[in-house]
Amino acid sequence: MIRNILVVLFWVGGLCAKEPSALYLTWASDPTTSMTIYWHTEAKHSGPSKVWYREEQGFWTCQEAVATPIYKSDVIAHRLELTGLHPGSTYLFRIGDEPETYRFTTLQPSGPLYFAIGGDAFFSLSLLREMNMQVLSKDVDFVVLGGDIAYSNGVSSFLQQRDTYELKRWLAFFKEWKKMRTDDGRLIPLVVTPGNHDVRSDAKTPEEKGRRLFEFFSFPKGASYSVLDIGPISLFLLDTGHVYPIEGAQTTWLEKALSARQDVPYKLAVYHISAYPAYYSYSGKVPTKIRDLWVPLFESYGIRAAFEHHNHVFKRTFPLRAGNIDPQGVIYLGDGAFGVPTRSPRSAWYLAASKKSRCFWTLRLDTSGCLLEAYDSWGKRLDALTLPSSSG
Ligand SMILES: [Fe+2]
Repeated sequence: MIRNILVVLFWVGGLCAKEPSALYLTWASDPTTSMTIYWHTEAKHSGPSKVWYREEQGFWTCQEAVATPIYKSDVIAHRLELTGLHPGSTYLFRIGDEPETYRFTTLQPSGPLYFAIGGDAFFSLSLLREMNMQVLSKDVDFVVLGGDIAYSNGVSSFLQQRDTYELKRWLAFFKEWKKMRTDDGRLIPLVVTPGNHDVRSDAKTPEEKGRRLFEFFSFPKGASYSVLDIGPISLFLLDTGHVYPIEGAQTTWLEKALSARQDVPYKLAVYHISAYPAYYSYSGKVPTKIRDLWVPLFESYGIRAAFEHHNHVFKRTFPLRAGNIDPQGVIYLGDGAFGVPTRSPRSAWYLAASKKSRCFWTLRLDTSGCLLEAYDSWGKRLDALTLPSSSG
C-alpha cells in the first residue's frame, strides 16, 4: 500500500518533468530476454536517471540507468539494459519522472518473427517520415538500419560548424524515431550497422571515428560489428570498414562466429557498402574487398541472404556462388534506399531485379518458412521470395 502511494506521488511529481527528446530501444544481448532503453535529456532538465517497469500483470520495479554526457553538448544520454526478462512477453515502462507509459515486447526464440531491414535512412525528414510510416504500418518486431542512419558526416555542405551539425542530425533522427510506436504504445526496437555518413572518416582512432555510434548504440567493447541470435536466425551485423577495417580482426571474428553457428537454420548478413552494387562500380575497392574476404565465408558457412546498402536503388541479385549464378548461392538484397533520393540502377550480370525506387525489405519467419518481401515508400510490394534454410 505504502509502495503504491509512493509510486502515485512519484508520477504526480513527474507531470512537471520535461519530456525526453529521444527515447528508443535496442539490444546489447539476447533479444528474447533483454531490452536496452535509451533516452536523452537536456542537462538542466535531466531528472532522475531511472526506469520503472513491469510485466503486463506484474508489479512495478525500479532500476537505475547510466547517465552519460554526450560529447560537446548539453545533452545527457541515459542507458539501461534490462535482463532476465521473459521471452515473448510485453512489458510496460516509464522513464525518469515522465508520466507516460510505454511498452516493449521481448522476442520469442521459437518465432514467429517479423522484422524490417533498410539503409540510408535520414537524408531528408520528409523521406524518412514516409518510410517510417510504411514500416510502422507493418507492425514489425524490430528494424535494422544498415548504415547512413542520420547523414551526420561527410557531405561537403554539412561541414561548417561540424560538431554542432553532427549532433543536430542525430538528435533530429532520434526525435523522429520516438514516433515509431504502435497504436497500443509498443516501441519498435532499432538495430544498426555503421555507414560512411555515420562516422568521421578523417579521425585517427576507431573510438573517434565511431564516437556518435558508440554514444547512441550498444556495440560490443572494442568493436563496431556483432551478431544477433534470435532462435533459428543469426543476424551478422558487419562494418564495411567505417570504424574498424574489414580485414584483420573483423574477418577473423566473422569466421569464428559463423563456425560457432553451423546448426543455425537461417544465417543472414547486414552491412552498408555492397559487394554486388546496383549503382556504384563492381570493381570498387570496398566491394572487391568484401568479395575477397567475406563472400567466401558467406558461401562456406551457409549464409543465404546478405542485405546491402549505400547505392540508393532497389535490387535483388540472382543466388551467387564462386562468382557465378548458382541456385545454392547467396542472394544479395538492397540497396540502401530508405530515406534518400534514388538513382538509376545500371545493368550487371548478377542483378535479377532492380529499380529506381525507394525500398525496405521485411523478413517473416513462421512455421511455413522464411518469406522476404520488398516494399516501396507507398507501401506497394516490389518483390517477394522464399528463402531456403542453410541446410535446404
Ligand atoms: Fe553510404
